Amino acid sequence: MSKIYSKINGTGSYLPDKILTNYDLEKLVDTTHEWIYERTGIVQRHIASDNESSVDMAYSSSLEALKKSNISVDQIDMIVVATTTPERKFPSSAVLLQNKLKIEKGFAFDVNAACTGFVYAIDIADKYIKSGLVKNALVVGTEKITSLLDWKDRNTCVLFGDGAGTVVLSASDQAGILSNTIGSNGSYKDLLTVNTDPEYIEMKGNDVFKIAVNTMGKLAVSTLKENNMNIDQVDWLIPHQANSRIINAIAKKISLPNDKVIMTVDKHGNTSAASIPLALDDANKRGVLRSNHIIMFEAFGAGFTWGSTLLKF
Ligand code: UT7
Repeated sequence: MSKIYSKINGTGSYLPDKILTNYDLEKLVDTTHEWIYERTGIVQRHIASDNESSVDMAYSSSLEALKKSNISVDQIDMIVVATTTPERKFPSSAVLLQNKLKIEKGFAFDVNAACTGFVYAIDIADKYIKSGLVKNALVVGTEKITSLLDWKDRNTCVLFGDGAGTVVLSASDQAGILSNTIGSNGSYKDLLTVNTDPEYIEMKGNDVFKIAVNTMGKLAVSTLKENNMNIDQVDWLIPHQANSRIINAIAKKISLPNDKVIMTVDKHGNTSAASIPLALDDANKRGVLRSNHIIMFEAFGAGFTWGSTLLKF
């Protein structure tokens, strides 16, 4: 029997209509467009409306990914949704999405690994597909992360945005996902967290920044080494989009030219678990990703959690 690979079959994304620019934020908190842009690379972010949930966004991005992949809903046997902002505590967002898509078979569950969630979700779906148990999986990152913001806290409210991205991952006899590495260390739990009552994001930005650069930099180097690849073989780095300075530092660490880095933080802000699938779909829609291109995902988030994926598109 030939080896089973899992391969990206189609991508989709959704961004809410409402756009909040840095200039809009100047009216809310003591900040400036210049400060936000120079420190983060962010220019604008999308904000979900009151009646729009992370599941609604996941539904829109999933319909698009299904359409692009020529896979029908009844061929989906697994749904993994990476989110930290589920519509309900339970049922999971994945089950709510399954229901919206009118799927009544297979299984669906959520993954919470904060901003690394999508890479965790890919890792899990990849293993199910390679084991032969699943043929087609919907892998989603979706966040209404602005629902966790204190709009009076300039340290956090300027950084985040909402959105969703979906990938249809399918069994294939052609190489797709080449490797995944995921990790976590809860001793950093208080550097980036959501407080209770009220539920607001709190972050020691500077500490997170340094550890993010270090961790993703090392991870990118070890991913290449484990796959016996040199940097010239990598076509695209699609990192978690939290801060352009973090992204540039990772690219520098692996000597990857900036024109091989997908950067969407300027348009989307930090959309947590949605950031990598949103950036992937953005690049795909721009037509820059070719079949067999080598793509590297690098992610880092609260926990801390981290993850790296190397794949053939
Ligand atoms: O997604 C998961 C992972 N998350 C991340 O990777 C985020 C990592 N952290 C960062 O991206 C950066 O640390 C930030 C963008 C959050 C902050 O940038 P920084 O260069 O680390 O600035 P800082 O926290 O050291 O703050 C510098 C100054 C402070 O003033 P003082 O104490 O030096 O007088 C802040 O109060 O900037 C001030 N400041 C602001 N000023 C204008 C903080 N936020 C703002 C703001 N506008 N919005």
